[in-house]
Amino acid sequence: MTGAKAEASDDNSGYGNLLMLGRIKNRARRLLGINDEFVHLRRAVTELDNVKELRKVFGWKQEPVLDDPSIDEFESIEDINLRRVRDAECIGTIVRNTNPSVCLDIGTAEGHSAALMAVNAPQARVFTVNIPPEEIHAGEGGVLTTVAFEREKIGSYYRKRNLTNVEQILANTARWEPNIGTIDVALVDGCHDTDFVYHDSRKVLKCMKAGSFLLWHDFNFDLVDKKDWIREVCLGVEKLIGAGLVKGQILHVRNSWLGIYQIPG
Ligand SMILES: C[S@@+](CC[C@H](N)C(=O)[O-])C[C@H]1O[C@@H](n2cnc3c(N)ncnc32)[C@H](O)[C@@H]1O
Repeated sequence: MTGAKAEASDDNSGYGNLLMLGRIKNRARRLLGINDEFVHLRRAVTELDNVKELRKVFGWKQEPVLDDPSIDEFESIEDINLRRVRDAECIGTIVRNTNPSVCLDIGTAEGHSAALMAVNAPQARVFTVNIPPEEIHAGEGGVLTTVAFEREKIGSYYRKRNLTNVEQILANTARWEPNIGTIDVALVDGCHDTDFVYHDSRKVLKCMKAGSFLLWHDFNFDLVDKKDWIREVCLGVEKLIGAGLVKGQILHVRNSWLGIYQIPG
């Protein structure tokens, strides 16, 4: 949610070149009107002007608690148009208004999204999962992994805040299986490779019930031709719709990087 996305695709690796090629092919396909990679997503996404519209859709009344100064920081071009504020508003609004018992945050980093969930749902247990750094260095965590924080840095922000309803899990989602009961709200923001987004979401969906919310970070359909990792995330969601695991609409608040999906009843 916060911090510049220094993704593996920014280097000159073979994988980076492949992503670039995929992007060019996608644009050409779109121009020619053939073989659209996002055939499902194009229909599924509903754009909302702001978080008030999100509240309107669900009849929610409560405003989110936004007490993390980092949401107002501007680090890089990724943060334009108050993107961090929009992301935090969406996550905070959903967590605050749904009275969850169990929240899951995949991709802890320093713990800003975990803290956001914890302050907006003090009654909930917030589980936050992050791969240990040595597994990223060994190449076991996928390609678009953002950053390999040292162990003591993972979750340092929520610990500094003394938030007692957060539980840290150090694990690679390639192997981790959720054993935290029924999940009411989950944020998928770990490895951004299409296959990770697909499999992480699939695991989470198995533990959800009708009415639960699944959120994907780095989801912004307007940016798929500009940011390789966003394209990969959107392709993961596209794959979930194609497999029939995600049905119905995905909401997106303008200028946020968040895909919002409620499990249908
Ligand atoms: C973009 S950051 C998460 C930011 C965080 N959600 C926030 O808003 O503060 C992604 C995090 O996911 C972790 N990660 C990457 N691959 C992973 C994997 N396979 N399993 C678990 N965590 C992973 C990275 O180490 C990194 O800390």
